[in-house]
Amino acid sequence: MVRDGLIAAVGTRAEVEKLPEARTAEQIELGGRVALPGFVDSHTHLVHAASRAEEYELKIAGASYEEIARKGGGILNSVKKLRAATSEALKKRALAALKQFAAHGTTTIEAKSGYGLDVASELKILRLHKELATEQPLEIVSTFLGAHVVPEEYRGKAGGAERYIKLIEENLLPEIGEKRLAEFCDVFCDRDAFSVEQSKRVLQAGRQWGLAPRLHAEQLSRTGAARLAILMRAASCDHLEKVNKSDIQALGKSDTVATLLPGCDFHLGLKQYAPARALIEGGAIVSLATDYNPGTSPTLSMPMILSLACAQLRMTPAEAVVAATINAAYALRREKTAGSLEVGKQADISVFDVADYREIPYYFGVSHCWMTVKRGRVIHAAQQAAI
Ligand code: NIG
Ligand code: FE
Repeated sequence: MVRDGLIAAVGTRAEVEKLPEARTAEQIELGGRVALPGFVDSHTHLVHAASRAEEYELKIAGASYEEIARKGGGILNSVKKLRAATSEALKKRALAALKQFAAHGTTTIEAKSGYGLDVASELKILRLHKELATEQPLEIVSTFLGAHVVPEEYRGKAGGAERYIKLIEENLLPEIGEKRLAEFCDVFCDRDAFSVEQSKRVLQAGRQWGLAPRLHAEQLSRTGAARLAILMRAASCDHLEKVNKSDIQALGKSDTVATLLPGCDFHLGLKQYAPARALIEGGAIVSLATDYNPGTSPTLSMPMILSLACAQLRMTPAEAVVAATINAAYALRREKTAGSLEVGKQADISVFDVADYREIPYYFGVSHCWMTVKRGRVIHAAQQAAI
């Protein structure tokens, strides 16, 4: 039972129907379908100007993600497009994506900046996060990813990366901190992006402005980024395809969430997925996210991510659901309000037109999400059954 957007009671139909308030409550008949806590997608690059479909065939023909990036494609390609785009155009695209997220059962998302990489364009993205959070029903958790890569204008110059970090520290973070435009600070720590030392500097600067750290770690190469995340008590470290045994052990002992993004490996055709089994068995807090972005993971479907988690990461459907709900809520510091169906939490509920929760990952590539409820309000209702 739901009251004022919060869960007021949980239990069997008989138990809840006995409560005095139930008599006057509006009843939604789910017809035996499966209801879960709404998905929490804890890693997305929501605001971007366009797809990078033009790079897709190059990838299929064998060019690696990093080769494409070195030739001016990749993140810098998206940066060019975003700088040229108006706020209105970016907003229209993000709103369409948010409707799709809701239609796939997601009720909370994290959103990163990182395709602006100059003061005006990064602030343009972060202000949009704030606007979008108030103008549509999904909850948006804003992350500043100014240190995504070194922008074009600072490359190939002596001390270019250092000067860009200075811009982040002196011109971006104060404005972001004062206007509360982000809750988290993220860095893409990898070869061809930022080193462990540089990442630490950016995360420490972010922390001084009240932004909690999280990190893109061990995706394309092992750099020691996961260790840095643990050391800094980051909320999460994400990707982790290249972690080694000792990283896994360290994650097993830490509260830093290991967020796995199998959509990237699937889209890029890579064979080495993150070692989910070893992480779970080692005691790590594992979460799953889409990493919705135009370069490595153009999907906003959490059910598809669950399918990949089961088939490729060998997670059980139950582990995958936990990873996509309560563990992801913890990664966003929302575990007290979201991620599970408990009294006092937000009534964020996704209903699937299946007979058994295991059928959610089992039927891959099709959305069986039948209804999505955010803070007690229906925000998506399917027109027809998927099968
Ligand atoms: O999470 N790895 C860095 N950032 C994104 C990809 C961004 C892009 O290619 O546009 C990721 O995979
Ligand atoms: Fe990412």
